[in-house]
Amino acid sequence: EPAPPGTFVIFGGGGDLTRRLLMPALYNLACSGLLNEDFSIVIVDWAELSDEDLITQFRASIDDFVNKRGTTATELQHQVWERLTANTSYLRGSFEDAATYHALGERISGRNAVFYLAVAARFFGTIVDNLGESGLAREENGVTRRVIIEKPFGSDLASARALNVRLQRSLDETQIYRIDHYLGKETVQNILALRFSNGIFEPLWNRQNIDHVQITAAETVGVEKRGRFYEQTGATRDMVPNHLMQLLTMVGMEAPTSFDADAVRDEKAKVLAAVQPVKMEDMVRGQYVSGSFGVGDEAEALRGYREEQDIALGSQTETYVAMKLGIDNWRWAGVPFYLRTGKRLRVRKTEIAIHFKQAPFALFRDTPVDKLTPNILVLHIQPTEGVTLQFSAKVPGPAVRLGGVRMKFDYSDWFSDGPSTGYETLIYDCLIGDQTLFQRADNIEGGWRIVQPALSAAAGDHAPLSFYPAGLDGPRDADELLARTGRRWLELSR
Ligand code: BG6
Repeated sequence: EPAPPGTFVIFGGGGDLTRRLLMPALYNLACSGLLNEDFSIVIVDWAELSDEDLITQFRASIDDFVNKRGTTATELQHQVWERLTANTSYLRGSFEDAATYHALGERISGRNAVFYLAVAARFFGTIVDNLGESGLAREENGVTRRVIIEKPFGSDLASARALNVRLQRSLDETQIYRIDHYLGKETVQNILALRFSNGIFEPLWNRQNIDHVQITAAETVGVEKRGRFYEQTGATRDMVPNHLMQLLTMVGMEAPTSFDADAVRDEKAKVLAAVQPVKMEDMVRGQYVSGSFGVGDEAEALRGYREEQDIALGSQTETYVAMKLGIDNWRWAGVPFYLRTGKRLRVRKTEIAIHFKQAPFALFRDTPVDKLTPNILVLHIQPTEGVTLQFSAKVPGPAVRLGGVRMKFDYSDWFSDGPSTGYETLIYDCLIGDQTLFQRADNIEGGWRIVQPALSAAAGDHAPLSFYPAGLDGPRDADELLARTGRRWLELSR
């Protein structure tokens, strides 16, 4: 069903996010008939640009998206395109200038509006203050005004709190949509479906049956052109309090009483509150040095982090982090949650591996294996999307021998999906006023609280750094983190 009429205002229209994801997402929504007939787009930015220039950029971004994905919808849907662009306009202005908001006010007067802040984080507060002061944030006569905020939301617990307080001076919490793009991923949303729409998993989903959980977000990319941002940020801030915490809460939370936004977010808040802040001895920070993808003639040489653009020679910024966390409640007490994420690793892979407890050895004591194959349920988030279950089976033959096998479900075998940037659901949900997939203030602060000791230690130079060659599996010390208790990471390249 199409969303209500309104205007979608993007602050920072010249940026990468707008071009790469937001524009294609709006177009995809229009193609699916999910935008209202009366829908307009206003892009606000500082560059000198005409409406025609803007439409040309818009078109290029869609062509780019379509070509990259190699989707079947290669033909632009002309009618949709005509209608969308007829209602797209540019507004040149500074985010700090009251005149910008005045001009914007004229374009959206009496209309519902979503303000999307696709800008550097330092502008979040300024823009929202201005929306407040200019009256544009006010919801009256049935008109809705909502603000979507990108990450990074603060750079530590104190700054996230301060930003929340500042936003709430101009906006009600029901108007604030804090994005974590991991929640736009189908496979992340599917975790709740898997757990709570099936009868067989939940009875096992606890400390009686689960030995530990591994959450991995491995990337092959380096810092690319984001050196300046990344130097200040590092892997912990960039990935853990937000994306990895989303995965951890999805796995760890209790069943909400409904899919009502606050019912879901209350359960997330509870599980986050039960996670103890990370201890330095339970964490490994790494940084990549030069290495390669592959070996021999085919190998692609890779620079070390300190040789990348805009990176300090003696940089102490981590490009990898692994940590052990615990959830101190009745379901999870004593079950370690191991998290790891890093850049320039061997493969791109985001997954959650639930390692179940070992069966009693008794019956197979004499079989020629030193260990039974552990039962592992892997939720594959990307790039392949699906679920696998690993278990033991008898190897055919007269002798009793056991081998590890896997049962595999692949999304693509069962469902065909339209082209998606991952932002369609999030944008549509905001247009219809559903906050379920957005972060509430307390959820954001909960994530920061957990990693704060790591940030403080790094700020005070008390946080050791291990090095790992680009293109491999990360630092040895991260293996050690699990080996202490006789556990191992799932191999990245398996
Ligand atoms: C972003 C981080 O939030 O998430 C990037 O800033 C990271 O550094 C990206 O590469 C990962 O997202 P995805 O969807 O590729 O897993």
